[in-house]
Amino acid sequence: MTLTIVGAGYVGLVTAAVFADLGNRVFCVDIVREKVEGLKKGKVPFFEPSLTEYVVRNQAAKRLFFTTNYSEAVPKSQAVFICVGTPPKNNGEADLSYLFAAVEETAKNLSGYTLIAIKSTIPIGFEDDLEATVKKYAKTKFEFGACPEFLREGTAIEDTLHPDRIVIGATSKKAQKVLLELHAPISGERIICDVRSAQLIKYAANALLATKVSFANALAALCEKMGADVKKVLAGVGADRRIGHSFLYPGVGYGGSCLPKDVLAFIHLANHFGYDFDLLRSVDAVNNGQIEAFIGKVRTALGNGHLKRGLAGKKVAVLGLAFKPNTDDIRDAPSVKVINHLVDLGAEVTAYDPQAMANARKIFPKIKYAPNVYKAIEGQDAMLVVTEWSEFREMDLSVIKKLLKRPIIIDGRNIFDPEKVKGLGFKYYGIGR
Ligand SMILES: NC(=O)c1ccc[n+]([C@@H]2O[C@H](COP(=O)([O-])OP(=O)(O)OC[C@H]3O[C@@H](n4cnc5c(N)ncnc54)[C@H](O)[C@@H]3O)[C@@H](O)[C@H]2O)c1
Repeated sequence: MTLTIVGAGYVGLVTAAVFADLGNRVFCVDIVREKVEGLKKGKVPFFEPSLTEYVVRNQAAKRLFFTTNYSEAVPKSQAVFICVGTPPKNNGEADLSYLFAAVEETAKNLSGYTLIAIKSTIPIGFEDDLEATVKKYAKTKFEFGACPEFLREGTAIEDTLHPDRIVIGATSKKAQKVLLELHAPISGERIICDVRSAQLIKYAANALLATKVSFANALAALCEKMGADVKKVLAGVGADRRIGHSFLYPGVGYGGSCLPKDVLAFIHLANHFGYDFDLLRSVDAVNNGQIEAFIGKVRTALGNGHLKRGLAGKKVAVLGLAFKPNTDDIRDAPSVKVINHLVDLGAEVTAYDPQAMANARKIFPKIKYAPNVYKAIEGQDAMLVVTEWSEFREMDLSVIKKLLKRPIIIDGRNIFDPEKVKGLGFKYYGIGR
Protein backbone atom coordinates (compact mmCIF):
# COMPACT_ATOMS: atom_id res chain seq x y z
CA MET A 1 0.00 0.00 0.00
CA THR A 2 1.15 3.60 -0.51
CA LEU A 3 0.76 5.76 2.58
CA THR A 4 1.38 9.27 3.80
CA ILE A 5 2.32 9.87 7.40
CA VAL A 6 1.89 13.50 8.44
CA GLY A 7 4.30 14.54 11.22
CA ALA A 8 7.79 13.13 11.71
CA GLY A 9 7.74 13.19 15.53
CA TYR A 10 7.91 10.29 17.97
CA VAL A 11 4.67 8.75 16.68
CA GLY A 12 4.81 9.68 12.99
CA LEU A 13 8.41 8.73 12.35
CA VAL A 14 8.11 5.37 14.11
CA THR A 15 4.84 4.61 12.28
CA ALA A 16 6.40 5.58 8.92
CA ALA A 17 9.55 3.52 9.51
CA VAL A 18 7.66 0.42 10.66
CA PHE A 19 5.04 0.49 7.87
CA ALA A 20 7.88 0.93 5.34
CA ASP A 21 9.77 -1.97 6.88
CA LEU A 22 6.65 -4.12 6.45
CA GLY A 23 6.85 -3.50 2.68
CA ASN A 24 4.64 -0.45 2.12
CA ARG A 25 5.69 2.66 0.17
CA VAL A 26 5.60 5.42 2.77
CA PHE A 27 5.87 9.20 2.41
CA CYS A 28 6.51 11.07 5.66
CA VAL A 29 5.59 14.77 5.53
CA ASP A 30 6.73 17.36 8.06
CA ILE A 31 6.64 21.15 7.93
CA VAL A 32 10.04 21.60 9.56
CA ARG A 33 12.49 21.76 6.66
CA GLU A 34 15.68 21.07 8.69
CA LYS A 35 14.08 17.98 10.19
CA VAL A 36 13.16 16.65 6.75
CA GLU A 37 16.60 17.46 5.28
CA GLY A 38 18.25 15.68 8.23
CA LEU A 39 15.98 12.65 7.87
CA LYS A 40 16.85 12.37 4.18
CA LYS A 41 20.47 11.95 5.33
CA GLY A 42 19.43 9.38 7.95
CA LYS A 43 19.58 11.79 10.90
CA VAL A 44 16.78 11.04 13.39
CA PRO A 45 16.03 14.24 15.36
CA PHE A 46 15.43 12.51 18.71
CA PHE A 47 16.65 9.44 20.60
CA GLU A 48 14.64 6.26 20.10
CA PRO A 49 16.37 2.84 20.15
CA SER A 50 16.77 1.20 16.66
CA LEU A 51 14.85 3.96 14.86
CA THR A 52 17.89 5.22 12.93
CA GLU A 53 18.53 1.71 11.52
CA TYR A 54 14.90 1.47 10.38
CA VAL A 55 15.00 4.91 8.75
CA VAL A 56 18.31 4.30 6.96
CA ARG A 57 17.40 0.77 5.82
CA ASN A 58 14.02 1.72 4.39
CA GLN A 59 15.24 4.87 2.65
CA ALA A 60 17.98 2.81 1.00
CA ALA A 61 15.35 0.28 -0.11
CA LYS A 62 13.31 3.17 -1.61
CA ARG A 63 10.29 2.39 0.52
CA LEU A 64 10.53 5.46 2.80
CA PHE A 65 10.58 9.08 1.56
CA PHE A 66 10.68 12.37 3.43
CA THR A 67 9.24 15.63 2.16
CA THR A 68 7.82 18.98 3.25
CA ASN A 69 5.51 18.91 0.26
CA TYR A 70 2.08 17.31 0.69
CA SER A 71 1.59 17.25 -3.09
CA GLU A 72 4.50 14.80 -3.48
CA ALA A 73 2.86 12.36 -1.08
CA VAL A 74 -0.91 12.59 -0.60
CA PRO A 75 -2.12 12.14 -4.22
CA LYS A 76 -0.30 8.78 -4.45
CA SER A 77 -1.64 7.46 -1.12
CA GLN A 78 -4.57 5.22 -0.26
CA ALA A 79 -4.37 6.21 3.39
CA VAL A 80 -3.04 9.28 5.22
CA PHE A 81 -2.15 9.01 8.91
CA ILE A 82 -2.24 12.29 10.82
CA CYS A 83 0.39 12.17 13.58
CA VAL A 84 0.92 15.84 14.47
CA GLY A 85 1.16 17.08 18.06
CA THR A 86 -1.90 18.03 20.14
CA PRO A 87 -0.26 19.95 23.00
CA PRO A 88 -2.23 21.45 25.89
CA LYS A 89 -3.47 25.03 25.93
CA ASN A 90 -3.19 26.97 29.20
CA ASN A 91 -6.64 25.77 30.32
CA GLY A 92 -5.78 22.09 29.72
CA GLU A 93 -7.83 21.80 26.54
CA ALA A 94 -6.05 20.17 23.56
CA ASP A 95 -4.65 22.61 20.99
CA LEU A 96 -5.90 21.33 17.64
CA SER A 97 -4.33 23.99 15.41
CA TYR A 98 -1.65 21.59 14.06
CA LEU A 99 -4.31 18.96 13.41
CA PHE A 100 -6.57 21.28 11.42
CA ALA A 101 -3.61 22.67 9.44
CA ALA A 102 -2.49 19.12 8.58
CA VAL A 103 -6.00 18.02 7.59
CA GLU A 104 -6.48 21.10 5.42
CA GLU A 105 -3.22 20.50 3.51
CA THR A 106 -4.13 16.84 3.13
CA ALA A 107 -7.59 17.76 1.78
CA LYS A 108 -6.09 20.09 -0.85
CA ASN A 109 -4.02 17.23 -2.23
CA LEU A 110 -6.43 14.28 -2.18
CA SER A 111 -6.77 12.28 -5.38
CA GLY A 112 -9.09 9.26 -5.50
CA TYR A 113 -10.69 7.58 -2.47
CA THR A 114 -8.45 8.16 0.55
CA LEU A 115 -8.79 7.18 4.17
CA ILE A 116 -7.64 9.89 6.58
CA ALA A 117 -6.77 8.11 9.80
CA ILE A 118 -6.13 10.22 12.90
CA LYS A 119 -3.36 8.80 15.07
CA SER A 120 -2.91 11.96 17.14
CA THR A 121 -4.77 11.97 20.45
CA ILE A 122 -7.72 14.29 19.82
CA PRO A 123 -10.86 15.03 21.83
CA ILE A 124 -14.23 13.63 20.86
CA GLY A 125 -16.60 15.97 19.04
CA PHE A 126 -14.45 17.41 16.26
CA GLU A 127 -15.54 14.94 13.59
CA ASP A 128 -17.97 17.39 11.96
CA ASP A 129 -15.42 20.22 11.88
CA LEU A 130 -12.78 17.94 10.37
CA GLU A 131 -15.23 16.64 7.79
CA ALA A 132 -16.23 20.21 6.88
CA THR A 133 -12.56 21.22 6.53
CA VAL A 134 -11.90 18.40 4.07
CA LYS A 135 -15.13 18.96 2.12
CA LYS A 136 -14.17 22.59 1.58
CA TYR A 137 -11.10 21.56 -0.44
CA ALA A 138 -11.43 17.92 -1.52
CA LYS A 139 -12.61 17.04 -4.97
CA THR A 140 -12.62 13.29 -4.34
CA LYS A 141 -14.19 10.81 -1.95
CA PHE A 142 -12.62 10.45 1.48
CA GLU A 143 -13.39 8.96 4.85
CA PHE A 144 -12.18 9.62 8.37
CA GLY A 145 -10.97 6.95 10.73
CA ALA A 146 -9.32 6.97 14.18
CA CYS A 147 -6.36 4.74 14.81
CA PRO A 148 -5.06 5.89 18.21
CA GLU A 149 -1.45 5.21 19.10
CA PHE A 150 -0.31 3.44 22.26
CA LEU A 151 3.45 3.20 21.72
CA ARG A 152 5.80 4.06 24.57
CA GLU A 153 8.89 6.15 23.90
CA GLY A 154 11.97 4.02 24.50
CA THR A 155 10.30 0.84 23.16
CA ALA A 156 8.39 2.44 20.30
CA ILE A 157 9.43 0.06 17.50
CA GLU A 158 8.73 -3.05 19.56
CA ASP A 159 5.38 -1.58 20.69
CA THR A 160 4.39 -0.79 17.10
CA LEU A 161 5.25 -4.27 15.88
CA HIS A 162 3.77 -6.09 18.89
CA PRO A 163 1.04 -3.91 20.41
CA ASP A 164 -1.44 -5.25 22.96
CA ARG A 165 -4.23 -4.07 20.67
CA ILE A 166 -4.90 -2.21 17.45
CA VAL A 167 -7.90 0.07 17.65
CA ILE A 168 -9.64 0.51 14.32
CA GLY A 169 -12.09 3.37 14.62
CA ALA A 170 -13.98 3.28 11.33
CA THR A 171 -17.61 2.61 10.49
CA SER A 172 -17.54 1.77 6.78
CA LYS A 173 -16.39 -1.68 5.68
CA LYS A 174 -14.12 -0.05 3.07
CA ALA A 175 -12.24 2.00 5.67
CA GLN A 176 -12.03 -0.95 8.07
CA LYS A 177 -10.58 -3.09 5.23
CA VAL A 178 -7.80 -0.56 4.53
CA LEU A 179 -6.79 -0.45 8.20
CA LEU A 180 -7.09 -4.21 8.73
CA GLU A 181 -5.01 -4.99 5.63
CA LEU A 182 -2.34 -2.53 6.62
CA HIS A 183 -2.05 -3.97 10.12
CA ALA A 184 -2.26 -7.62 8.98
CA PRO A 185 1.45 -8.38 9.64
CA ILE A 186 1.24 -6.86 13.14
CA SER A 187 0.17 -8.92 16.15
CA GLY A 188 -2.31 -7.79 18.82
CA GLU A 189 -6.05 -7.90 19.47
CA ARG A 190 -8.21 -5.94 16.97
CA ILE A 191 -10.82 -3.63 18.46
CA ILE A 192 -13.12 -2.46 15.69
CA CYS A 193 -15.41 0.38 16.68
CA ASP A 194 -16.78 3.78 15.73
CA VAL A 195 -14.50 6.84 15.64
CA ARG A 196 -15.69 8.32 18.96
CA SER A 197 -15.22 5.06 20.87
CA ALA A 198 -11.71 4.72 19.41
CA GLN A 199 -10.73 8.20 20.61
CA LEU A 200 -12.26 7.54 24.02
CA ILE A 201 -10.25 4.30 24.38
CA LYS A 202 -7.05 6.33 24.11
CA TYR A 203 -8.04 8.92 26.72
CA ALA A 204 -9.46 6.29 29.07
CA ALA A 205 -6.34 4.13 28.86
CA ASN A 206 -4.01 7.02 29.67
CA ALA A 207 -6.31 8.24 32.44
CA LEU A 208 -6.32 4.82 34.07
CA LEU A 209 -2.52 4.54 33.87
CA ALA A 210 -2.22 7.97 35.50
CA THR A 211 -4.73 6.89 38.15
CA LYS A 212 -2.58 3.87 39.03
CA VAL A 213 0.49 6.09 39.43
CA SER A 214 -1.37 8.59 41.62
CA PHE A 215 -2.88 5.76 43.69
CA ALA A 216 0.64 4.44 44.34
CA ASN A 217 1.77 7.95 45.27
CA ALA A 218 -1.16 8.52 47.64
CA LEU A 219 -0.41 5.15 49.26
CA ALA A 220 3.25 6.14 49.59
CA ALA A 221 2.28 9.29 51.50
CA LEU A 222 0.15 7.18 53.81
CA CYS A 223 2.96 4.64 54.31
CA GLU A 224 5.29 7.46 55.41
CA LYS A 225 2.77 8.48 58.07
CA MET A 226 2.03 4.90 59.14
CA GLY A 227 5.62 3.62 59.12
CA ALA A 228 4.94 1.00 56.42
CA ASP A 229 7.03 0.25 53.29
CA VAL A 230 5.14 1.14 50.11
CA LYS A 231 7.36 -1.10 48.00
CA LYS A 232 6.27 -4.14 50.00
CA VAL A 233 2.65 -2.99 50.13
CA LEU A 234 2.47 -2.56 46.35
CA ALA A 235 4.27 -5.84 45.75
CA GLY A 236 1.41 -7.47 47.65
CA VAL A 237 -1.30 -5.42 45.97
CA GLY A 238 0.03 -5.85 42.42
CA ALA A 239 0.45 -9.61 42.83
CA ASP A 240 -3.32 -9.84 42.52
CA ARG A 241 -3.85 -10.68 38.83
CA ARG A 242 -6.95 -8.48 38.75
CA ILE A 243 -4.68 -5.50 39.56
CA GLY A 244 -1.18 -6.20 38.20
CA HIS A 245 2.14 -4.52 39.00
CA SER A 246 2.51 -2.15 36.05
CA PHE A 247 2.26 1.57 36.75
CA LEU A 248 1.89 0.93 40.48
CA TYR A 249 5.13 2.69 41.33
CA PRO A 250 5.42 5.74 43.56
CA GLY A 251 7.91 8.47 42.71
CA VAL A 252 8.14 12.10 41.67
CA GLY A 253 5.01 11.65 39.57
CA TYR A 254 4.15 10.87 35.98
CA GLY A 255 5.35 13.18 33.21
CA GLY A 256 6.06 13.17 29.51
CA SER A 257 4.18 14.35 26.48
CA CYS A 258 1.10 12.18 27.04
CA LEU A 259 -0.18 11.38 30.55
CA PRO A 260 -0.21 14.92 32.03
CA LYS A 261 -1.76 16.53 28.94
CA ASP A 262 -4.22 13.72 28.25
CA VAL A 263 -5.49 13.70 31.86
CA LEU A 264 -6.11 17.47 31.68
CA ALA A 265 -7.68 17.25 28.22
CA PHE A 266 -9.93 14.40 29.40
CA ILE A 267 -11.13 16.41 32.41
CA HIS A 268 -11.85 19.32 30.06
CA LEU A 269 -13.56 17.07 27.52
CA ALA A 270 -15.75 15.39 30.16
CA ASN A 271 -16.73 18.81 31.45
CA HIS A 272 -17.71 19.88 27.95
CA PHE A 273 -20.07 16.89 27.80
CA GLY A 274 -21.55 17.75 31.21
CA TYR A 275 -19.62 15.30 33.40
CA ASP A 276 -17.42 16.43 36.28
CA PHE A 277 -14.50 13.96 36.28
CA ASP A 278 -13.50 14.75 39.89
CA LEU A 279 -11.70 11.40 40.14
CA LEU A 280 -9.25 12.62 37.49
CA ARG A 281 -8.92 16.03 39.07
CA SER A 282 -7.66 14.23 42.20
CA VAL A 283 -5.29 12.14 40.09
CA ASP A 284 -3.80 15.35 38.68
CA ALA A 285 -3.64 17.00 42.12
CA VAL A 286 -1.84 14.01 43.68
CA ASN A 287 0.63 14.06 40.79
CA ASN A 288 1.41 17.76 41.23
CA GLY A 289 1.82 17.20 44.98
CA GLN A 290 4.63 14.69 44.37
CA ILE A 291 7.02 17.42 43.25
CA GLU A 292 6.35 19.50 46.36
CA ALA A 293 6.74 16.42 48.57
CA PHE A 294 10.09 15.63 46.91
CA ILE A 295 11.33 19.21 47.32
CA GLY A 296 10.14 19.00 50.95
CA LYS A 297 12.51 16.06 51.45
CA VAL A 298 15.41 18.02 49.92
CA ARG A 299 14.65 20.90 52.30
CA THR A 300 14.46 18.55 55.28
CA ALA A 301 17.82 17.05 54.34
CA LEU A 302 19.67 20.26 53.44
CA GLY A 303 17.49 23.28 54.17
CA ASN A 304 18.54 26.31 56.19
CA GLY A 305 14.98 27.07 57.36
CA HIS A 306 14.71 30.15 55.16
CA LEU A 307 11.34 30.14 53.37
CA LYS A 308 12.38 31.63 50.02
CA ARG A 309 16.13 30.85 49.85
CA GLY A 310 16.00 27.61 51.82
CA LEU A 311 18.70 25.92 49.74
CA ALA A 312 21.01 28.90 49.19
CA GLY A 313 24.62 27.79 48.90
CA LYS A 314 23.71 24.07 48.66
CA LYS A 315 25.09 22.02 45.80
CA VAL A 316 22.89 19.21 44.49
CA ALA A 317 23.27 16.63 41.74
CA VAL A 318 20.09 15.91 39.75
CA LEU A 319 20.35 12.47 38.15
CA GLY A 320 17.89 12.03 35.31
CA LEU A 321 16.23 14.67 33.14
CA ALA A 322 14.20 12.60 30.66
CA PHE A 323 10.63 11.96 31.81
CA LYS A 324 11.50 8.25 31.86
CA PRO A 325 14.49 6.06 30.93
CA ASN A 326 15.44 5.29 27.30
CA THR A 327 14.23 8.55 25.83
CA ASP A 328 15.57 12.09 25.46
CA ASP A 329 12.08 13.59 25.83
CA ILE A 330 11.77 16.16 28.61
CA ARG A 331 8.29 17.44 27.72
CA ASP A 332 6.46 17.84 31.06
CA ALA A 333 9.23 15.86 32.77
CA PRO A 334 9.25 15.96 36.60
CA SER A 335 12.93 17.00 36.37
CA VAL A 336 11.93 20.36 34.87
CA LYS A 337 9.66 21.19 37.82
CA VAL A 338 12.20 19.86 40.34
CA ILE A 339 15.03 21.97 38.87
CA ASN A 340 12.84 25.08 38.75
CA HIS A 341 12.08 24.67 42.48
CA LEU A 342 15.72 23.97 43.37
CA VAL A 343 16.96 27.03 41.46
CA ASP A 344 14.23 29.23 43.03
CA LEU A 345 15.35 28.06 46.47
CA GLY A 346 18.93 29.07 45.68
CA ALA A 347 20.50 25.63 45.13
CA GLU A 348 23.41 25.15 42.73
CA VAL A 349 22.32 22.35 40.39
CA THR A 350 24.56 19.96 38.46
CA ALA A 351 22.55 17.69 36.18
CA TYR A 352 23.31 14.49 34.33
CA ASP A 353 21.24 12.35 31.95
CA PRO A 354 22.49 9.76 29.46
CA GLN A 355 20.35 11.19 26.59
CA ALA A 356 18.37 14.28 27.52
CA MET A 357 21.03 16.91 28.32
CA ALA A 358 20.86 18.60 24.89
CA ASN A 359 17.10 19.14 25.32
CA ALA A 360 17.52 20.27 28.94
CA ARG A 361 20.16 22.86 27.94
CA LYS A 362 17.50 24.64 25.86
CA ILE A 363 15.37 25.15 29.01
CA PHE A 364 18.11 25.49 31.61
CA PRO A 365 21.12 27.09 29.92
CA LYS A 366 22.52 28.30 33.26
CA ILE A 367 22.72 25.17 35.43
CA LYS A 368 25.80 22.92 35.25
CA TYR A 369 25.90 19.65 33.31
CA ALA A 370 28.28 16.79 34.03
CA PRO A 371 29.78 14.44 31.42
CA ASN A 372 29.00 11.36 33.50
CA VAL A 373 27.17 10.31 36.63
CA TYR A 374 30.21 10.21 38.93
CA LYS A 375 31.36 13.68 37.84
CA ALA A 376 27.82 14.90 38.55
CA ILE A 377 27.91 13.88 42.22
CA GLU A 378 31.50 14.89 43.00
CA GLY A 379 31.60 17.43 45.85
CA GLN A 380 27.79 17.75 46.09
CA ASP A 381 25.76 18.12 49.27
CA ALA A 382 23.22 15.55 48.04
CA MET A 383 22.40 13.24 45.16
CA LEU A 384 18.83 13.43 43.84
CA VAL A 385 17.46 10.60 41.67
CA VAL A 386 14.70 11.87 39.37
CA THR A 387 14.68 9.32 36.48
CA GLU A 388 15.31 5.60 36.99
CA TRP A 389 17.96 4.99 34.26
CA SER A 390 19.58 1.59 34.82
CA GLU A 391 23.05 3.14 34.97
CA PHE A 392 21.97 4.88 38.20
CA ARG A 393 20.80 1.60 39.72
CA GLU A 394 24.17 0.07 38.88
CA MET A 395 26.27 2.78 40.56
CA ASP A 396 28.92 1.70 43.06
CA LEU A 397 27.63 2.93 46.44
CA SER A 398 31.08 3.04 48.02
CA VAL A 399 32.31 5.33 45.20
CA ILE A 400 29.21 7.52 45.63
CA LYS A 401 30.00 7.82 49.34
CA LYS A 402 33.58 8.94 48.64
CA LEU A 403 32.58 11.47 45.96
CA LEU A 404 29.66 13.21 47.71
CA LYS A 405 30.56 16.00 50.13
CA ARG A 406 27.73 14.80 52.39
CA PRO A 407 26.38 11.24 52.12
CA ILE A 408 22.78 12.16 51.35
CA ILE A 409 20.60 10.39 48.76
CA ILE A 410 17.10 11.62 47.95
CA ASP A 411 15.72 8.86 45.79
CA GLY A 412 12.68 10.02 43.84
CA ARG A 413 12.29 6.63 42.14
CA ASN A 414 13.04 4.20 44.99
CA ILE A 415 15.91 2.60 43.06
CA PHE A 416 18.08 1.92 46.13
CA ASP A 417 17.53 -0.48 49.02
CA PRO A 418 17.09 1.75 52.11
CA GLU A 419 18.59 -0.76 54.54
CA LYS A 420 21.67 -1.26 52.39
CA VAL A 421 22.38 2.44 51.84
CA LYS A 422 21.68 3.34 55.45
CA GLY A 423 24.00 0.49 56.49
CA LEU A 424 26.77 2.14 54.46
CA GLY A 425 26.29 5.38 56.38
CA PHE A 426 24.12 7.32 53.96
CA LYS A 427 21.20 9.49 55.01
CA TYR A 428 18.49 8.13 52.72
CA TYR A 429 15.10 9.58 51.74
CA GLY A 430 12.89 7.41 49.52
CA ILE A 431 9.22 7.71 48.61
CA GLY A 432 6.83 5.96 50.99
CA ARG A 433 9.36 3.93 52.93
N1 LIG B 1 4.96 10.57 22.05
C1 LIG B 1 4.25 9.52 22.47
O1 LIG B 1 4.74 8.68 23.23
C2 LIG B 1 2.81 9.34 22.03
C3 LIG B 1 2.19 8.10 22.25
C4 LIG B 1 0.87 7.93 21.84
C5 LIG B 1 0.18 8.99 21.27
N2 LIG B 1 0.80 10.19 21.11
C6 LIG B 1 0.04 11.28 20.46
O2 LIG B 1 0.46 11.36 19.11
C7 LIG B 1 0.49 12.73 18.67
C8 LIG B 1 1.89 13.10 18.19
O3 LIG B 1 2.78 13.02 19.29
P1 LIG B 1 4.36 13.10 19.10
O4 LIG B 1 4.96 12.87 20.44
O5 LIG B 1 4.78 12.25 17.95
O6 LIG B 1 4.51 14.65 18.68
P2 LIG B 1 5.82 15.39 18.18
O7 LIG B 1 5.71 16.77 18.65
O8 LIG B 1 7.05 14.59 18.52
O9 LIG B 1 5.70 15.35 16.58
C9 LIG B 1 4.76 16.09 15.85
C10 LIG B 1 5.38 16.39 14.48
O10 LIG B 1 4.38 16.98 13.65
C11 LIG B 1 4.97 17.99 12.87
N3 LIG B 1 3.92 18.89 12.37
C12 LIG B 1 3.23 19.84 13.05
N4 LIG B 1 2.32 20.41 12.24
C13 LIG B 1 2.43 19.82 11.02
C14 LIG B 1 1.75 19.96 9.79
N5 LIG B 1 0.76 20.83 9.62
N6 LIG B 1 2.13 19.17 8.76
C15 LIG B 1 3.13 18.27 8.90
N7 LIG B 1 3.80 18.08 10.06
C16 LIG B 1 3.46 18.85 11.10
C17 LIG B 1 5.98 18.63 13.81
O11 LIG B 1 6.96 19.35 13.12
C18 LIG B 1 6.53 17.40 14.53
O12 LIG B 1 7.66 16.86 13.85
C19 LIG B 1 -0.02 13.55 19.86
O13 LIG B 1 -1.41 13.73 19.74
C20 LIG B 1 0.28 12.64 21.05
O14 LIG B 1 -0.58 12.88 22.12
C21 LIG B 1 2.10 10.38 21.46
